[in-house]
Amino acid sequence: MVLIEWSKELELGIPEIDQQHRKLVEMLNEFYTELEEGHQKEAVEHFLKNLEDYLNFHLDYEEKFMEEKGYPESQMHKKTHEMFKKLYAEEKERYLNGDPKALRELVAFTFSWLFSHIMKTDKKYAQYLREKGLI
Ligand SMILES: [Fe+2]
Repeated sequence: MVLIEWSKELELGIPEIDQQHRKLVEMLNEFYTELEEGHQKEAVEHFLKNLEDYLNFHLDYEEKFMEEKGYPESQMHKKTHEMFKKLYAEEKERYLNGDPKALRELVAFTFSWLFSHIMKTDKKYAQYLREKGLI
């Protein structure tokens, strides 16, 4: 089941990073699909694991990329990433301690990240680097 379609608006034009961003869309679709199929436990386990891997691998990759390219706002951007990592850790802990609302909040935040972060904050560095001829 595809609930969220990848769109041109999410694209930065940096193939490696776009490929990683697509994983986030896939992860959300997989979560909804597994829920729909009645596999709630697996859905949650996969989502938490996939998101953790994503945050560790992709965010670090992007931060290194921005720094290597000399993007002047990379430190500020990094702070936004750290906020997501912190939110993940907190919501996961709350969920594992028996608060189902924490998981819903985490999923909702991940969904909104596509539009608030990728479409705006990430696009900003891609545009900057393109204008400067760095990508
Ligand atoms: Fe980012």
